[in-house]
Amino acid sequence: MSYKIIALPGDGIGPEIMSGSLEILSQLSQQFNFSYELESHDFGGIAIDNHGTPLPDNTLSACQQADAVLLGAVGGPKWTDPANRPEQGLLGIRKALGLFANIRPTTVTSETSHLSPLKESKVAGTDFVIVRELTGGIYFGEPKHWDNNQAVDSLTYTKAEIERIARVGFELAQKRNKKLTSVDKENVLSSSKLWRQVVNKVAADYPDVEVNHLLVDACAMHLIVNPSQFDVIVTENLFGDILSDEASVIPGSLGLSPSASFSEQGTRLYEPIHGSAPDIAGQDKANPFGMLLSVAMCLRESLNQDDAATHLENIIYTLIKTGKTTTDLGGQYTTSDIFNFVKENL
Ligand code: NAD
Ligand code: IPM
Ligand code: MN
Repeated sequence: MSYKIIALPGDGIGPEIMSGSLEILSQLSQQFNFSYELESHDFGGIAIDNHGTPLPDNTLSACQQADAVLLGAVGGPKWTDPANRPEQGLLGIRKALGLFANIRPTTVTSETSHLSPLKESKVAGTDFVIVRELTGGIYFGEPKHWDNNQAVDSLTYTKAEIERIARVGFELAQKRNKKLTSVDKENVLSSSKLWRQVVNKVAADYPDVEVNHLLVDACAMHLIVNPSQFDVIVTENLFGDILSDEASVIPGSLGLSPSASFSEQGTRLYEPIHGSAPDIAGQDKANPFGMLLSVAMCLRESLNQDDAATHLENIIYTLIKTGKTTTDLGGQYTTSDIFNFVKENL
């Protein structure tokens, strides 16, 4: 069976981390004997430049027909028109593909624990997944508008939206350590009151999973003080965005964190959680591991290639252990060096 993959390199460091990752994917396909068709499309700022819109129709329709989408990152200081921003393309593709569940794992292994800005003894054994709701909440709620005098964003959730993301969290917890932490702001927000009520109702269907609730501010603190206590964290869109960038530095760098997004059924999308990093774009400095670990998630979840995924992940952890990293992880190597190291180890 041949899979169809769409690459959306995007802006800033996006193309830098994508090109080497696609070469590695190609090498893995020969080694592990699977095949795929690949197309690259404009998306984000580059698509505004070339087509006047961040999500051109042919980019979207190619993604709708694909098995998997690999995305680099979008955005940058060049594109600041509030009516036509690269980030609108990102929200647009998530909504159009129905990608309501965004899986953002954080793992500290014995190879990586020395790179954490936190004490090694605190981070040892950290292995949790943030399940971020991705197509609802304040990102999409209406009304939403601003003028020079007043601005409005609306935080809306329906019972159905909360229930389906809660089920993703519970089902993942069942396959892991059977602990689910639901994060909300139930002491203030109406949407969070409904969130907590629905999570508690859904919990009855998963009696083997231990559930607890944390307010988001306290969760931000617990992630630093005792990250290894968590297994699955399920939370709404904005809280998940913020907590996952925080979580990403527990193993050492934002540049390390991958993600996978999926819908009820259909195309899945894989992207590192970081942005286009305009401050280092074009300098061959970007850490490509978050992108490569996203490719590994794609191999496992969309292409059914567990062995290839594990092989790639093991190479990445070995490189980290031996100090073969970009500068964000304390190493001295360029993005291109890292891709070469990975290829040599394949
Ligand atoms: P950012 O994630 O791009 O960068 C934050 C900091 O982390 C920067 O100092 C950057 O150099 C560093 N960093 C990020 N990724 C790195 C990597 N792979 N290797 C080494 N260092 C890395 O966040 P930002 O600066 O707040 O946003 C820049 C642009 O990216 C904005 O336009 C934003 O909207 C966009 N953005 C896009 C996505 C996405 O496409 N999924 C995600 C987040 C932000
Ligand atoms: C992310 C990003 C996006 C988000 C932005 C660029 C719209 O921060 O993927 O984490 O907030 O979801
Ligand atoms: Mn983010």
